[in-house]
Amino acid sequence: MKISVIGAGYLGATHAICMASLGHEVVVVDVDSEKIALLKGGTLPFFEPGLSELLSSVLETKTISFTTDITAISECAINFLCIGTPQNREGIAADLSALERAFDSVLSVAKSDSIIVGKSTVPVGTAQRLARELSNKKSDTTLNWNPEFLREGHAVADTFEPNRIVIGALAPSDARVLADFYRSFSPNTPQFITNFPTAELVKVAANAFLATKISFINAMSEIADATGADVTVLADAIGIDDRIGRKFLGAGIGFGGGCLPKDIRAFLARADELGLGESLAFLQEFDLINQRARSRAVAVALKELGNPKGKKVAILGAAFKPESDDVRDSPALEIAQTLAALGADVVVNDPRALASAAEKVPDLTYEESITQTLQGAELTMLLTEWNEYRSLDPEKVIGLVKTPTLFDGRNVLDVGKWQTAGWKLLALGRSL
Ligand code: UDX
Repeated sequence: MKISVIGAGYLGATHAICMASLGHEVVVVDVDSEKIALLKGGTLPFFEPGLSELLSSVLETKTISFTTDITAISECAINFLCIGTPQNREGIAADLSALERAFDSVLSVAKSDSIIVGKSTVPVGTAQRLARELSNKKSDTTLNWNPEFLREGHAVADTFEPNRIVIGALAPSDARVLADFYRSFSPNTPQFITNFPTAELVKVAANAFLATKISFINAMSEIADATGADVTVLADAIGIDDRIGRKFLGAGIGFGGGCLPKDIRAFLARADELGLGESLAFLQEFDLINQRARSRAVAVALKELGNPKGKKVAILGAAFKPESDDVRDSPALEIAQTLAALGADVVVNDPRALASAAEKVPDLTYEESITQTLQGAELTMLLTEWNEYRSLDPEKVIGLVKTPTLFDGRNVLDVGKWQTAGWKLLALGRSL
């Protein structure tokens, strides 16, 4: 099938490349000519495991093309809108301006019997408004809203085998083509065909729930700090109940990235607009708990260092999570920045995110070698749980640092092993 993908960010590029690898003829359009040039040349503008290899193969088979020219989509049967909806500069609501511009330009050139599929995360009510625009313009184009649930770091697998497909439409018959499209490569994935507001809400409710779980366990971590309890044992013991579940009860420095933080804020803003601020007031608390996790980490570091001025702090991790070079709203990078602003001699290492971190925060010191990063450190902080850090040999690296004190910001290390090797370990929510 000939399809287009508008927007070549994490979501759009991944979707386009994966669909092309299944044999669809895919046209990718983005207004960013630099990004398009990179992709045309076979380079991904971001890191995602397995995606670069797929890009090379679809460029070779010529099942994909990249352009800034929107008229290239005129023959496509399905047009996927994968435009970012970042947090508004002036407040906490989502900024829909780029999405709206893209929608208008797609509409002006798309085939009349084609389908426009919104994949972007949007405030509830957006799709209905866009559908009204279609009917005002007497367009025959069909609109579907089809939220995307892929996780960075697992995006390829999540695209080929999504855990669910949700399609919002004016009428179930409007969703048939898209439902068949997904069924053709992922026949066992449960599909939910529903109305627009439900489809939009499934996405933000899922992210709000995940954020809630993380902030819940970080709230317990605050209580554990004050009472001497161990939040990791607590998480294991409550998570063993499958009504609760152990996943997303990883206590530590909290969530970041391009989705969870901005999605819960946009959800709050939308609830306020609907006069339902009270219904989601708990999300505001969870946002605060999440931000407090970062300041609690800084407080632990300062307690350990005393006056931080000129003291070397080795920061292991800049990305918001492992297997990604994404530093958007990264807890790791924010903690590094705060300590540097307080005068510490901060050195940041990350297996993949050094370039994106340096672009976002140019005035930090970045170091590619873990050995050099640790050399002479008076405090080491593990802030992103890359395997490279989890597999460090405490006996080997103890010789590098000046003071063998390590803050495990993600509660992932084998505490006994590190302590036996002579390290003092620090963490949130447990006294070690
Ligand atoms: C999330 C959703 O999972 C995905 O379905 C949606 O499409 C986009 O947003 P992503 O942002 O890739 O995906 O990351 P996710 O794996 O959800 O992690 C988000 C953040 O939570 C990371 O910073 C991670 O470190 C943190 N986290 C996760 C915790 O602090 N504790 C946990 O137990 C789990």
